[in-house]
Amino acid sequence: MKRVLHLGLTLCAGVSAVACSQQGRAPEVFQSESASLTEIPTNSDTRIVLTLTAQQRLHVLEEMNRFLLSTQEIVEGLSSDHPELVQSALADSLGRNQGQSYSQGLMKGALPPEYRQMRSAMKQEFKKVETLSKSGADSTEILVQLSSTLMYCQSCHGTYQI
Ligand code: HEC
Repeated sequence: MKRVLHLGLTLCAGVSAVACSQQGRAPEVFQSESASLTEIPTNSDTRIVLTLTAQQRLHVLEEMNRFLLSTQEIVEGLSSDHPELVQSALADSLGRNQGQSYSQGLMKGALPPEYRQMRSAMKQEFKKVETLSKSGADSTEILVQLSSTLMYCQSCHGTYQI
């Protein structure tokens, strides 16, 4: 558990100390009496904004919902002892059979390298879940690895908005 926590903190530190430290806390607004209304920030969400077209945004959100669905199926597969469900969910979240939209096509150049690095680091973590599942590891061990995978979701969500 300590290892997992450490990973999350390292990610936060490496990626966006500001976004992580301010997560869940609205920044204080110091307002002098002479400050005009236009100087008051209306949006306290300090995460980096990714500028995408409507179609690209939809693509990202679809991928996200696939990640969430896969996560649910992995947990269901582990709790009901169905490794085949775990493995088919992992194949979905790893995006096999979905073309290369991030290196070519719709998403080419749309997302900063740091975002793509975080996304591929998360996929590496999912691959470790898959390796464990295929080698017949017990559910507890797989859950520990899943938990460390989910730290990447959290870290990216703390850093970016679209
Ligand atoms: C590399 C960055 C990154 C990673 C990794 C990531 N996400 Fe996201 N996710 C985003 C961004 C950016 C948004 C949009 C957030 C916003 O604008 O508020 C988002 C939004 C979502 C949404 C909302 C979708 C909707 O339809 O509104 C879900 C659900 C989600 N992510 C699930 C996950 C899960 C589960 C994981 C991990 C297994 C994950 N994400 C990993 C970047 C990421």
